[in-house]
Amino acid sequence: MPVPYQDILDYTLIDAEKLQARIRELGAEISHDYEQDDDIILIGILKGSMLFMTDLMRHIEVPHVIDFLDVTSYGAGVRESTGSVRILRDINMTIERRHVLIVEDIIDSGRTLEQVLRLLQARRPKSLRVCTLLDKKERREVVIPVDYTGFEIPNAFVFGYGLDIDEYYRNLPFIGVVKPGFVMDE
Ligand code: IMP
Ligand code: MG
Repeated sequence: MPVPYQDILDYTLIDAEKLQARIRELGAEISHDYEQDDDIILIGILKGSMLFMTDLMRHIEVPHVIDFLDVTSYGAGVRESTGSVRILRDINMTIERRHVLIVEDIIDSGRTLEQVLRLLQARRPKSLRVCTLLDKKERREVVIPVDYTGFEIPNAFVFGYGLDIDEYYRNLPFIGVVKPGFVMDE
């Protein structure tokens, strides 16, 4: 059984109010940048971007549609990602000659996104940009063009607001740091 989040929370990194304020700013920035293009496809990477997507889209004033992509890293450890990804669920929409904005929860090594970008670029969108809520910049192993960043965060394992620990705690309205050395029971 998962323990109450209070038992694994070291400290709150970004509280709900700060998250919402920044997401409002990102929405305004995106609305401004895409003003001339009256159509965007927002592609959320499941499952972590779920909460971010639903809050962000409320602040995007340009007409847009949403779709979701679910990928997994091959042979990854629980908290690490490897070079190649496998599609678990593809998007339904055709993105050729359309403006695509990827909505991601967090960029760590950058390897997942590198593959996702390659995959989507091959489908010839009119433009392809990246919006991530969190960026652990110091962990980056590959160069990723990031167009919109909510917060740059230190190298710590975080959870809440879409991000999970072994699939739990995604519902929390804030981003918390896991206590050092915490491992969930089987
Ligand atoms: P990357 O391929 O190393 O950039 O890994 C990105 C993915 O790893 C994210 O989409 C998350 O699913 C997961 N991830 C990386 N860091 C964290 C974290 O601190 N908490 C929860 N998930 C994380
Ligand atoms: Mg993810």
